[in-house]
Amino acid sequence: MKRIQFIVGCLAAFVAAPALAAEREPFDDRYCTTCHGADGRGNEGVQAPRLAGMEPWYLKRQLENYRDGIRGTHPDDIEGVAMQPMAARLTDASIQDIIEWVGGWNYVPAEHTISGDIDAGRVLYQPCATCHGADAEGNEALGAPALAGQNDWYMVTQLRNFLAGYRGVHPRDVYGAQMRAMTTGLNGENDINNVVAYINSLSD
Ligand code: HEC
Ligand code: HEC
Repeated sequence: MKRIQFIVGCLAAFVAAPALAAEREPFDDRYCTTCHGADGRGNEGVQAPRLAGMEPWYLKRQLENYRDGIRGTHPDDIEGVAMQPMAARLTDASIQDIIEWVGGWNYVPAEHTISGDIDAGRVLYQPCATCHGADAEGNEALGAPALAGQNDWYMVTQLRNFLAGYRGVHPRDVYGAQMRAMTTGLNGENDINNVVAYINSLSD
């Protein structure tokens, strides 16, 4: 509940400053870090993940997907619905500016908050490695982002969201659909925690 209030608070602050926003570039660099944390290190309090170190092509696709309503529109996707309006007014040029801005931040692997059975997770991760890489380093040709170093609580939410059909179901979400198909091999919370615990072990 506290988390939702914080998100609503952020939204109110964002909406309350239209005059200021109009005089600036199409994006105001401060509003991303309000939620994503200083230098984009991620902020568990509002469930906004680490952006520092994110691949430019992945960052671009996600911002376009939120902007175009391909991601973050399912009413039960609380975090996605908080993020979607933040991208709604971005132009192609401002997305390019953001990519350069984010590219200047220092990448620091996220702290671990999830515990799970790493050995069980290693087995579960084998099919994932085909796309995300053996070290979860990502694969641009397949459109699969790096997972190592990302906030673990965020990865847990995303796996749940793919499974629940909050993400990866829009007809134009080609990459999301490929990923969603892969979550059918995860049975319940234990599997999700275990595979994420294994991904954590790759950034130790
Ligand atoms: C009101 C808080 C808030 C603000 C402000 C905000 N975000 Fe987010 N952002 C979130 C949340 C929460 C998520 C997780 C959404 C989800 O679970 O789908 C997110 C997710 C993202 C993602 C997806 C990351 C991934 O790994 O798929 C990107 C990219 C992103 N935000 C970029 C930005 C940028 C760039 C800005 C500034 C233009 C911004 N955000 C402003 C809250 C915010
Ligand atoms: C067929 C290739 C493929 C396989 C196999 C695959 N993924 Fe993915 N995964 C993707 C793609 C592509 C995306 C990006 C989806 C998008 O653009 O929204 C993704 C996104 C994700 C995300 C969200 C990352 C973020 O920053 O939002 C997580 C977490 C994830 N995958 C975990 C896994 C796990 C765990 C497995 C194994 C159970 C797995 N993936 C198997 C292709 C794959």
